[in-house]
Amino acid sequence: MFILGIETTCDETGMALIEIKENKIRILANELATQFKVHQKYGGVVPILAAREHKKNLPVILKKIEKNFDLKKIDFLSFSVGPGLLPALVSGKEFVINLAQKLNKKIIPVDHLSAHFYSVLIKNKKDWQKIKEIDFPALVLIVSGGHTNLYLFKNFLEKRKLGETLDDAAGETLDKCARYLGLPYPGGPIIEKLAEKAKGFFPLPKPILQKGYNFSFAGLKTAFIQLVDEIRNYKKLDEKTIADLCFSLQKTIFEILIYKLNKAKDNFKIKTIVVSGGVAANQTLKKMIKKYFVQEKIYFPERKLATDNGLNIALAGYLLYQNGTPPLEKIEVYPRSI
Ligand code: KG4
Ligand code: ZN
Repeated sequence: MFILGIETTCDETGMALIEIKENKIRILANELATQFKVHQKYGGVVPILAAREHKKNLPVILKKIEKNFDLKKIDFLSFSVGPGLLPALVSGKEFVINLAQKLNKKIIPVDHLSAHFYSVLIKNKKDWQKIKEIDFPALVLIVSGGHTNLYLFKNFLEKRKLGETLDDAAGETLDKCARYLGLPYPGGPIIEKLAEKAKGFFPLPKPILQKGYNFSFAGLKTAFIQLVDEIRNYKKLDEKTIADLCFSLQKTIFEILIYKLNKAKDNFKIKTIVVSGGVAANQTLKKMIKKYFVQEKIYFPERKLATDNGLNIALAGYLLYQNGTPPLEKIEVYPRSI
């Protein structure tokens, strides 16, 4: 079967075409139009601009895919209906509904955060590959610019949200703190790079660490900003200090993530841990988690598949279909996580 997956929840316009045969997958197209240049000068994603860019990018990407493939052959479309930025979701939805009508195909609505989880099941390569199997129940941590959500997945479709951030997401904290240091958006990858040169460490707070499975990063962000101000009061921020600040921020955030993962792992007796979403592209996080959890099976997506893409949406469509979800004529989008 052939599935076209479309992603427009945030600032990446993603579209991918996959072929599936007996639990094997082949990626026929995986296109991404990144908008970060549009949002860079604002230090974060501007929802209305994201919507405008999706509107502009979607037909261009579709044309590229159509050049090599007759879209009438697809079985259905899958679309990431949320959580995400409402204007971005609405512009994607309009496009997807129009396309589905034109092709006379139905749509499988996909949860964006579950799709982030599924990106660990495949490699970003052209040849046929087996879709990985996972030992359930699995603890799934989605860490991105918009979310820091911890889930317990009973199987691919049944999930229970254990906790989420009460304020800023982990990626958002990295982005905002990077901006305060005068670094460009998105902050996560730059902080990762600069942190490699660190020699020192500044202690930072870990809000609501002991309490349940929710996260809170706003206090940490404020403490970081105050620390930067204090340093600026007596000296110019030099390269070495910036490296130490990046290292300290990143390490503190990752230790919070590990603490909560560990607590959930012990409580629910989990053998599988999945970490996905944009922040999971961070190799230091991957190393820290692999070092900490030695008994468990740890899954991270390939770096390129960690951030938003159409491929995990197409794959999510397949997993839903395979487990009995019918494609629909009508779809609704939702901004908040479920
Ligand atoms: O999943 P994603 O592409 O979009 C959302 O759904 O938010 O994640 C984007 C987030 C941004 O906050 C970005 O700074 C962060 O992921 N990110 C990283 C890295 N690459 C992207 N954070 C830390 N290290 C990275 N290498
Ligand atoms: Zn995402």
